[in-house]
Amino acid sequence: TRSPVAKLLLFGATGDLAQRMLLPSLYGLHADGLLPDALTITGTARSEHSDASYRKFAKAALDEFLPEDRKDEEKTKTFLARVQYQSLDATDQAHYKQLSEKVGDVSGGLAIFLSTAPSLFEPVIKGLASAGLAGDTVRIGLEKPLGYDLASSREINDTVATAFTEDRTFRIDHYLGKETVQNILALRFGNSFFEPVWNARGIDNVQITISETVGLEDRAGYYETAGALRDMVANHMLQLLALIAMEPPARFDGNAIRDEKSKVFRSLRPIAPADASRDTVTGQYGAGAVGGQIVKSYTDELGKPSTTETFVAIKAHVDNWRWQGVPFYLRTGKRMAVRRSEIAIQFKPVPHSMFSNRGGLLQPNVLVIRLQPEEYIQILVMAKEPGLDRDGVRLRELPLNLSLDAAFAGRPRRIAYERLLLDLIEGDQTLFVRRDEVEAQWSWIDAIREGWTANDMKPKTYASGSWGPSAAIALTERDGVTWQDD
Ligand code: BG6
Repeated sequence: TRSPVAKLLLFGATGDLAQRMLLPSLYGLHADGLLPDALTITGTARSEHSDASYRKFAKAALDEFLPEDRKDEEKTKTFLARVQYQSLDATDQAHYKQLSEKVGDVSGGLAIFLSTAPSLFEPVIKGLASAGLAGDTVRIGLEKPLGYDLASSREINDTVATAFTEDRTFRIDHYLGKETVQNILALRFGNSFFEPVWNARGIDNVQITISETVGLEDRAGYYETAGALRDMVANHMLQLLALIAMEPPARFDGNAIRDEKSKVFRSLRPIAPADASRDTVTGQYGAGAVGGQIVKSYTDELGKPSTTETFVAIKAHVDNWRWQGVPFYLRTGKRMAVRRSEIAIQFKPVPHSMFSNRGGLLQPNVLVIRLQPEEYIQILVMAKEPGLDRDGVRLRELPLNLSLDAAFAGRPRRIAYERLLLDLIEGDQTLFVRRDEVEAQWSWIDAIREGWTANDMKPKTYASGSWGPSAAIALTERDGVTWQDD
């Protein structure tokens, strides 16, 4: 049951995320009449702004980041009329009283969106609680990074829990807000023919790739302390893995789905330190060319030496009945050949081939779920080439293609934050990450890091614009598996 709040409080209201994602998303929801009529939005951050100057700031962000066809002067005006601002020094407890006065009565419900440096969790939660901004009618959305290992994430979760119960805590993983990610559930549980082969008997291996072409961007401070493993694997990649690997939930319901994901995380086989250099590969981008642009190496961008990994590939296993023996290959990196998020599920080969196939070997079927930049689902199948076949049938691998872009052309494509902010405002936790999930993710990640430290593993340099260090190719080739790179 959805229970919309009457107010929204945005921390970090002048930050990058607010400008690029949050304000445009809220505007999008407003423009389509999806926000509760009376919803007011209070922005807060350290910078000084009056309501009027913050509205100007917000307007500039909309001008810059909204797609042209979404812009509408009248709707921008009515949207900005919902917005007000209060500056806040998050470490000064005296400031929270002013904030709470600005927000006003929260008996009709308040949703808080918090994306903050880990060091600020404690004072912010304390300040909110003491100013009456954490009661039963208040829920809180939390952006990553929620810690950098299990211990620090527990600390943050404990701090949050002093003021917010779990059913009022909404941990964001923006990948869960993506349409095609939710489509994994539709595909698996809305169709009958995948599930009988969706196991170690039917599936040979699963490959999950999130390759990016961007580099460090303006995030040196954060990225240097995170690295690819914490930045992408500990959350987005493991969420994708869980949606692929989980057992069918009984209901489309937040806890039913999260129970099943959580079981997957707890079934991940820990990678022992002795296996770290065999089952994981780390890399750091060197100079190179991406999409025709010459780009600098990571350390040149950073301006100092670094051993932070910008690429990681891992061979993972889910140790349960369904997945015994099926490798899950994960790979993510910055400054790679193309921008692509994709899951490729490779099925077992046919047990016996009756074809001599002059075209080459029979290829195993592959289900490709492309999340971005395009959105499609393909099944690669063997088909007969036209011809008289006088010296044998010639088969070729071709895609059965479900283009979600084309099937739903003309429908608004919502960015992930629109969905997630609306769910936060309305109180639906299905697409948010529960505490037990986060903690199980971190324990698996921590063990990998320990292995890197124990073996003194340093990232291997790869050329910008490539598919990562060659060791990542060896990681699968060793098992006779080739990355699905088309
Ligand atoms: C963020 C990471 O969570 O996800 C970034 O911190 C990364 O480093 C981004 O670039 C990728 O998101 P998307 O939606 O562009 O695939």
